[in-house]
Amino acid sequence: MRSGILSQLHGLKLEAQIGMKKVLLIGSGAREQAIARALKESREEVVLSVYASHHNPGIASLASDFIVGSLSDNQKIVEYARQSGVDFAVVGPEGPLANGIVDDLQMAGIPSVGPTKNLAQIETSKSFTRNLAKEFNIKGSVLYKSFENFDGVPSFLNQLENGFVIKPDGLTGGKGVMVMGDHFASEEEGIEILHDLFSEGQSLVIEEKLTGQEFSLMSFCDGENLVHLPAVQDHKRAFENDKGPNTGGMGSYSMADGSLPFLTKEDIAEAKSINETIALALREKTGVPYKGVLYGGFMATKTGVKLIEYNARLGDPEAMNVLSVFPDKSSDKIAGADFLDICEAIIKGTLNTLKTNWKPVCTVCKYAVPNGYPSNSVKGEAIDLSALDQSKVGLFFASVDAKNGDLLLAGSRAVAVIAVHEDLYEAEKLVEAEIRKIRGPVFHRSDIGTASLIESRAKMMEEIRNEKI
Ligand code: AMP
Ligand code: GLY
Repeated sequence: MRSGILSQLHGLKLEAQIGMKKVLLIGSGAREQAIARALKESREEVVLSVYASHHNPGIASLASDFIVGSLSDNQKIVEYARQSGVDFAVVGPEGPLANGIVDDLQMAGIPSVGPTKNLAQIETSKSFTRNLAKEFNIKGSVLYKSFENFDGVPSFLNQLENGFVIKPDGLTGGKGVMVMGDHFASEEEGIEILHDLFSEGQSLVIEEKLTGQEFSLMSFCDGENLVHLPAVQDHKRAFENDKGPNTGGMGSYSMADGSLPFLTKEDIAEAKSINETIALALREKTGVPYKGVLYGGFMATKTGVKLIEYNARLGDPEAMNVLSVFPDKSSDKIAGADFLDICEAIIKGTLNTLKTNWKPVCTVCKYAVPNGYPSNSVKGEAIDLSALDQSKVGLFFASVDAKNGDLLLAGSRAVAVIAVHEDLYEAEKLVEAEIRKIRGPVFHRSDIGTASLIESRAKMMEEIRNEKI
């Protein structure tokens, strides 16, 4: 009898171990904190080992182990993954993907949620992506051409009626792109910039300038099957009413129906279909399945949805929006897959077998950034979050350093505040009420997620569709 109970207990313990996953998370920002939270909120127990570039107290509080090291030191990351005995890795930022961390982990027998270096070119090379879209006849392609020098530039510019955009090839953090009308005033000015860049040996993509509303549509991809997330709109400009320099993204919102107020059903269907076609094109082109997140950056225009860019990872801040709509931990599988289920299915290639069901809620996320951001940020000064009511909003740490009990600004976007509500404008009010309570030299965009900004965007889109713009 006694041995029966013991063997039952032993069986339970074994089951508990089998029902527990060890995961390596690579990255240190708010997006990675959102990934850590989503993993920990999965139904099965997750033991998290984190490899980060700096100490993020939000991630550390969710992790069983947390080490700080260079994100470009693949050898150290692989060594840490081995020592931690992880089942798989989730790669947050683009840098390690571009450095081939997925390839190196794979050689060590550790699978990843994230594409190999060759496939990550979808983000790291503008010309790779544009050429792929053209070769596979992907809808939403734009007029573009790659150049290494000025030969042929004038005749190409003559074909473009509405101005042009200059895109350096390679990772630029979304800040290297120059748009006529925004970053240079005339064709002559643009040509001067082109000469300067070519003289530095920079290869470039030049493409037609599009007018419309931008949105992100991210899809989980196992190489063949895709699971689409709700569309999100980020806000790249630093200041209210879309003024000021481009940033990594000042805030974002998503809607309960998975669409956005300025998009039609056809726009959403089109964006999903472009992601699906790109996934298949990547597989056909490279022979290797793309496993991870395909983040399509789109623009809704007068002539339909156009592809602006691809990223090979979750967006930041968009990750905070989309990872907030998974079913609650307490609900059963009928309510839909959780984030761990998704990660495992990406690795196994079984995303098509999952039932996914996003909570019908709206989300608003805003970043508090240091005064002077993005070009001249205040650094090293403390911020105080103690007045914020964390029962109303989620707090995600980005570029902050926890030192001696203080939270110090480290120069880039500092803290993301997110709220979830059935009503978009209620979610916005919740975020606004709390983000204002951050004490210290920071600012945020109070217009993100407000009726006046969203209605003006919907109106602009309507005018574009009616060909008034
Ligand atoms: P990317 O790094 O390709 O995402 O570009 C950064 C930003 O430049 C985008 O978010 C857009 O705001 C803008 N942009 C890129 N391509 C175009 C285009 N063809 N027409 C207009 N704006 C663009
Ligand atoms: N939100 C823009 C990005 O993640 O690249």
